[in-house]
Amino acid sequence: MASTQTPISKLSEHIGQDVTLSAWLTDKSGKGKLIFLKLRDGSGFVQGVLSKNDVSEDVFEAARHLTQESSLKLTGTVRADERAPGGVELSLSHVEVVGGSGEYPITPKEHGIDFLQDHRHLWLRHRRPWAVLRLRDAVQRGLADFFHGRGFIRFDSPLFTTNAAEDTTELFEIDLFGENSAYLSQTGQLHAEAGALAFGKVYTFGPTFRAEKSKTRRHLLEFWMIEPEVAPSDHAANMQLQEDMVAFVVRRVLETCAEELGILGRDLDKLRPAASGHFPRVTYTEALEIIRSRIESGDLPPNVAPDTQPVAWGEDLGAPHETIVGSQFDRPVMIERYPAAIKAFYMQPDPLDPRVALCDDMIAPEGYGEIIGGSQRIHDYHLLKNRIEEQGLPLEPFEWYLDLRRFGSVPHAGFGMGLERFVAWISGIDHIREAVAFPRMLTRMYP
Ligand code: 4AD
Ligand code: MG
Repeated sequence: MASTQTPISKLSEHIGQDVTLSAWLTDKSGKGKLIFLKLRDGSGFVQGVLSKNDVSEDVFEAARHLTQESSLKLTGTVRADERAPGGVELSLSHVEVVGGSGEYPITPKEHGIDFLQDHRHLWLRHRRPWAVLRLRDAVQRGLADFFHGRGFIRFDSPLFTTNAAEDTTELFEIDLFGENSAYLSQTGQLHAEAGALAFGKVYTFGPTFRAEKSKTRRHLLEFWMIEPEVAPSDHAANMQLQEDMVAFVVRRVLETCAEELGILGRDLDKLRPAASGHFPRVTYTEALEIIRSRIESGDLPPNVAPDTQPVAWGEDLGAPHETIVGSQFDRPVMIERYPAAIKAFYMQPDPLDPRVALCDDMIAPEGYGEIIGGSQRIHDYHLLKNRIEEQGLPLEPFEWYLDLRRFGSVPHAGFGMGLERFVAWISGIDHIREAVAFPRMLTRMYP
C-alpha cells in the first residue's frame, strides 16, 4: 500500500491510512512485546506503538536501543485514540534512524532554569518553548493582519541611528571605524513619523535595543517592538487603535492557539475579557489616587511588597504601582496624561494642562505591567525645537526630524508595543526571556 509523508499535525486527517513521517524521539517506554515511542516533528506530538508481532526481530531490537532526540523515519497506520492529545496514535510497522543522538542533556527529569537556558538551542525542541514561540508567531501574524486590514503598510526603520529618542542613558554606542559613532536604535518611532507623513498609516516591526542595567523579568537588552504611526491622528484615536489591536490579537490567539495555551496551562478566563475590548482608561493623577488608597487600606496584590510607597505627583510609576493599578481591572488598563517632565521630548503637551503630555501606557493585568507606550507627537516646529534643546540634546541629528515640522506638519500619533512583554502576558509565563528564541540580557548572551 502506498503511504504518504505526513506531518504530525495532519495525522488526524488520515485515520486508518498508512503514512510515513520524519520525527524525533522525545521519550521511550516499553512493556513486554510493546515499545512506546513519543515523537515530535515540530508540527506536533504523537505516540507511536511498536508491537513485536508486527515487525521484524531486527527492527524491534533496534527500537529498544533508540536514544532521546534521535531523528527517525517511520512508517505506520494512523489509529483514532480519544485519550491521545491529538486524538490519534500510530501503529508502527517500520522505524529507521536518520541521525543518532548521544547523551542528550535535557532528560525528562526536572532541570533548573539556568541549565535550560544554557541549552536553549536544544530546549527549543521541548513542549513549553514550542508552545510559547508558536504563540509568538501567531501574535506576529495577528498584528500584521490587523494593520494590513486597516490600510497600514509595513515600513521598517533603520537599526543604526544618530540620535537618542528615549532615555539617553540607555544607548548602545557603535564605533564606526574610529571616525564617527552611531547608536543601536531604541525605537523605530522617529523614522516611522517620516513614514506616516509619506504614507499615512505605517508600522515598523523590528529589533530595538536598550542598554538598561535592570535585571528584571520585564527587561531585555534586545527586544522586538511593533510601532504604528498615523498622520493625521491624535491622542484619542491613538488609544482606540491600541485597544482595537490588542483585542484583535487576543481574539486571534484564543481562536487559533488552543493547543499551545493548553500546554502552558493558561487560564483562559483571565484572557477572555481582553478579547472584547472596552479597556478602562484612567489618568495618571487618578492612578496615583488608586495607588494611595490601596496602600492605605492595605489591600495590595500578593506580588506587591507591603512596604510599597505611594507616588508623589510628578514622579514616575514603578512596577509595583503598575501592578496595583492593573489589579483593579480584568483586562488591560490605559493610564494617560503623565507629567510631561518624566516623558520623552517629542510628546505633545495637553493644551488644557501643559504640565501633562497627551500620552498613555497600557498596563496588562495579572502583574504583567506596561506592554505599550504611546503618544500624540509635537507637530509645532518651535515647540519641538525648544523641547530638544531643553533636554540638552544636540540639534544637528534632529534636523531631518524637524523638517517633518517645517514641511506640511500635522498632528500625528503612534505607539510601541514590546512583543516579548505581550507574548509573556498571553502565555502566562513569568519572565520575558522565554518569549524570544534566544534572549539577550545582561546575564545572558549564550547560546
Ligand atoms: O515606552 P517605550 O520606551 O516607548 C517607545 O519606545 C516609543 N518610542 C514607542 C512609540 O511611541 N512608537 O517602549 C515601548 C514598549 C514598552 O511599553 C515595552 O512593552 C517595550 O517597548 N519595552 C521593552 N521590552 C523589553 N525589554 C525592554 N528593555 C523594554 N523597554 C521597552
Ligand atoms: Mg514606556
